Amino acid sequence: MQIRFADSRPAGDYALVLPVAGKDRSTLSALGASQRAIAVALDRQRFEGDATNTSEQFIDDNGSVRRLLVVGTGMGVSPIEAAEKLGGTAVSKLQMSGEKRGVIDLSGLGYDADAAARVALGAVLRAWRYDRYRTKLKDNQKATLEDIVIVGGNGGAAKRYEQRWAPVVEGVSLTRELVTEPANIIYPETFVERVKASVKGSGLELEVLDRAAMDKLGMGALLGVAQGSVREARLLVLKWNGGGKGAPPTAFVGKGVTFDTGGISIKPAAGMEAMKWDMGGAGAVAGALKALALRKAKANIVGICGLVENMPGGNAQRPGDVVTTMSGQTVEVINTDAEGRLVLADAVTYVQRNFTPSTIIDLATLTGAILISLGHEWAGLFSNNDDLAGRLQAAGDESGDKLWRMPLAEPFDRLIDSPIADMKNVGPREGGSITAAQFIQRFIENGVKWAHVDMAGKAWADKAGTTYEKGATGFGVRLLDQYVADVLEA
Ligand code: BES
Ligand code: MN
Ligand code: ZN
Repeated sequence: MQIRFADSRPAGDYALVLPVAGKDRSTLSALGASQRAIAVALDRQRFEGDATNTSEQFIDDNGSVRRLLVVGTGMGVSPIEAAEKLGGTAVSKLQMSGEKRGVIDLSGLGYDADAAARVALGAVLRAWRYDRYRTKLKDNQKATLEDIVIVGGNGGAAKRYEQRWAPVVEGVSLTRELVTEPANIIYPETFVERVKASVKGSGLELEVLDRAAMDKLGMGALLGVAQGSVREARLLVLKWNGGGKGAPPTAFVGKGVTFDTGGISIKPAAGMEAMKWDMGGAGAVAGALKALALRKAKANIVGICGLVENMPGGNAQRPGDVVTTMSGQTVEVINTDAEGRLVLADAVTYVQRNFTPSTIIDLATLTGAILISLGHEWAGLFSNNDDLAGRLQAAGDESGDKLWRMPLAEPFDRLIDSPIADMKNVGPREGGSITAAQFIQRFIENGVKWAHVDMAGKAWADKAGTTYEKGATGFGVRLLDQYVADVLEA
């Protein structure tokens, strides 16, 4: 779907999207002779004008019949807050409606360039879909909406969108694509290829470690997870140097388990197909780096994707195996399904040894327990630094990728002590997300600020949201992008 900006409504056929702020019906004046009938219709339909409320009618617009979509923005809601919902709601109603063009007329709202650009952002994000494997769609199952024209924003909206948000859309789209693709298509090697092709020309620098390279470095934890699969592991390094020369980078590290069967500690069959998106953290890291490169962020960032497939098999690791990590610490693998932390352990050691980052933020679909704690609304946030945690939470609120802080503490750490090795990879069932975070913390070196985002409830949505269709959400890209903008570029 294309997005355009204009100062006034175009000629020709289109669906008109008119925002209404709560009970304030003043924007209806744009409807001329139809205004009175529409006002009555909205009352009869009990239209309240709250955010995401909609009402659809057909009006006689100077002799031609036109679809009118009234969208509520809420009363007294700031434009920044209302904008993305407005754009997203408009697209959710029009995308399959048969209309080819939608015109969102903001002129009655007095939105500035940034708010208008964010209407476009919401619209474009909501329009993303992946029909590659649907070869038999009937005409009425196909998207019809080809473009959205945004009217209003007092000039500057197009530029603002192109510079600030179009790169973010590119990043989110890459992440959603990687997350959506099934595991027979996206596995460690093809994840790397897909990202490489997608970021070509962006200015990102890529480095890829294969099994032999990781073996040499002693990444026994990551390779232990991968050894049951015929798909060879990869470590993908993405570098963006837009900041001061030689300034220590910020590291983003993603769990990239391209399929998680559980390994020998195999998962139940029901719902296992969901584990194709167990690479959502790595997907978010790749998408964020793409966005940051495209918008030429003034920051030094290194992104690490730890890519493995977790399979049972004749060569798979067994419960009870002891592996030696790149850090030198040893781990007793009690449960082969607690594999994400093993991958992250070596990935964070690698980034610390090679890039000495000041800050590490890792993202991972790490535990089912975080779903029990926070459901699908918030991702869990764990950090050894209050300032970092606060800034990440602020970026989460601003971007919509919301985070809820969870505790870390010594008594939890003790729960992963092992009688045979330095630690074991699982604690008791209780506090399962916390002991997983404590495990990763054991690989964070002194003085390094670290945050861990457990996004197991956020990578995939069974229900559409305002800026995503059901399926891959792209969670994490906007969080990291906003963090960089607020903290590293400010
Ligand atoms: N990838 C899963 C976590 C997960 C579960 C993500 C459900 C999304 C939805 C992870 O590798 C896992 O299997 N974790 C185990 C840990 C347990 C064995 C300690 C879990 O949460 O059950
Ligand atoms: Mn698992
Ligand atoms: Zn997993």
